[in-house]
Amino acid sequence: MGLFDSKKSYQAGQVDMSRLPRHIAIIMDGNGRWAKQRGLPRTAGHKVGAEVFRKIARYCKQLGVEYLTVYAFSTENWKRPADEVETIMGLLKQYMLEAIETMEEEKIRLKFFGDLTPLSPELQALVEKTNAMSKQIDGVQANICLNYGGRDEILRAARAFARECAAGEKQPEELTEAAFGDYLFSAGVPDPELIIRPSGEVRLSNFLLWQCAYAEFYFCDTLWPDFSEATLDAAIIDYQKRDRRFGGVKK
Ligand code: IPE
Ligand code: IPE
Ligand code: MG
Repeated sequence: MGLFDSKKSYQAGQVDMSRLPRHIAIIMDGNGRWAKQRGLPRTAGHKVGAEVFRKIARYCKQLGVEYLTVYAFSTENWKRPADEVETIMGLLKQYMLEAIETMEEEKIRLKFFGDLTPLSPELQALVEKTNAMSKQIDGVQANICLNYGGRDEILRAARAFARECAAGEKQPEELTEAAFGDYLFSAGVPDPELIIRPSGEVRLSNFLLWQCAYAEFYFCDTLWPDFSEATLDAAIIDYQKRDRRFGGVKK
């Protein structure tokens, strides 16, 4: 019958496979609280969280979602204790090393959104390698937001366009919404239809500020390390009940 008959998380007849969002974005939040509840160091939550990301990226590929954007590390997360930042960077390194090994088989392309220049030269080299490999892969695109801030992204785009104007290459009038999008990290990626934030926080925390203009939001209390295929199904099912009017009137 279908790919999903053997998947116990699939709620038969509920996810409408003909109306899947093309692009889902997730703020992977709650790792620290998950660890604290278990008397573990926060870093233990990040380790499990990284596994959950692998699982959810695979599930998006199975479902047929084209783009998955995840918030892994914000421009504000540098405020955290050095050992926590180090653990997160170590997990990213591990993930990239693994992705390099398995990308051809897994068919999960990677792209990084964010200012990568403060990362270690080793991490930057791995990003370059995964980017180059990803160009050869035809599959779901996972965008990993790393040292990413929505405001930072918009400022960078504005500066880049201003530089082109100052050089006489562009005129201010040429800047349309679509043209501006081409200066963002997300250039070429459609806006997310669905943005999910687990862990009970009801805020964007500087995530995809330009791209979220008409996104549907889904908030739930599940902490990211407990997030499962069933949680994603529930978010998609909820999204599919929404009446997206885009400023128009109900059909
Ligand atoms: C999200 O989990 C991961 C990152 C921000 C890197 P948190 O570490 O924010 O977990 P909580 O919100 O403290 O529980
Ligand atoms: C947002 O979560 C960033 C990531 C999930 C990477 P935070 O935990 O940093 O956000 P706040 O501090 O609760 O707003
Ligand atoms: Mg948090």
